[in-house]
Amino acid sequence: MDKIGPIGVFDSGYGGLTVLQEFIRVLPEYDYLYLGDNARAPYGNRSFDVVHEFTLEAVNYLKNQGCKLVILACNTSSAKALRTIQQIDLVHSDANFRVLGVIRPSTETIGALSKNNSIGILGTPGTIHSESYKIELEKLSPSSRIFQHACPMWVPLIESNQHHTELGKKIIQNDIKVLLSKERSIDTILLACTHYPLILQQIQDFVGPSISVISQGPIVADKLKDYLSRNEFMQKQISRGASCSFLTTENSVVFQEAAMQFLAQSIKAEQIKL
Ligand code: DGL
Repeated sequence: MDKIGPIGVFDSGYGGLTVLQEFIRVLPEYDYLYLGDNARAPYGNRSFDVVHEFTLEAVNYLKNQGCKLVILACNTSSAKALRTIQQIDLVHSDANFRVLGVIRPSTETIGALSKNNSIGILGTPGTIHSESYKIELEKLSPSSRIFQHACPMWVPLIESNQHHTELGKKIIQNDIKVLLSKERSIDTILLACTHYPLILQQIQDFVGPSISVISQGPIVADKLKDYLSRNEFMQKQISRGASCSFLTTENSVVFQEAAMQFLAQSIKAEQIKL
């Protein structure tokens, strides 16, 4: 058996911290290595080629740090890069190394959460225009009707902490109105961007109690737990020191300060170059 290593968790920026937090809650015994490509975020409006190139660089970096399992805790990367990485880039790589995303686990769960099969999806333009959620949900939950809307301003608003300003609130509410204008009976909204849990309460307050607003962190964490329980070999490749380290392509002090918003605790980060 090769050396053991931490679970790599990647996001374009801070959003993946909302997923990491759930991993730690559900699987506290493992070591985690988080990498945020904050210097090049947001990815949401970037092309397929660029998101693939950036994501692959991050995956290779985490692999070189000893990770045997990397989770793309970023919908944009999962939508635009995961398949190419799994099916082309990693084919000749270490057979024991795996990269997983957040879209499949979310679509396996979300169909069953709607009572009337009317599901709204909010995400970045990259995620929404890739149609990944629609395609997966049509396979896994054929009776569901999917209504999507891209919110290009939400990640920049959250990253710059402007989502509570009057202008920020107005932009967010306008996007929700556009989604709901597509179908009045939507009873479940999936936040298909790992940044959005930060404004979950704001969204829930605006749509009211008849619509469930779902964050994907807890879903992805439960699915990871299930995956590891079925993959003893992978389980044995992960180190168990209950630690968490943070890497960022931004200035580490900037990352540490902003990460507090997401994790509600102070952390130490290291700046790296991809
Ligand atoms: N957290 C990323 C996601 O889930 C944000 C993408 C971005 O950088 O725009 O899509």
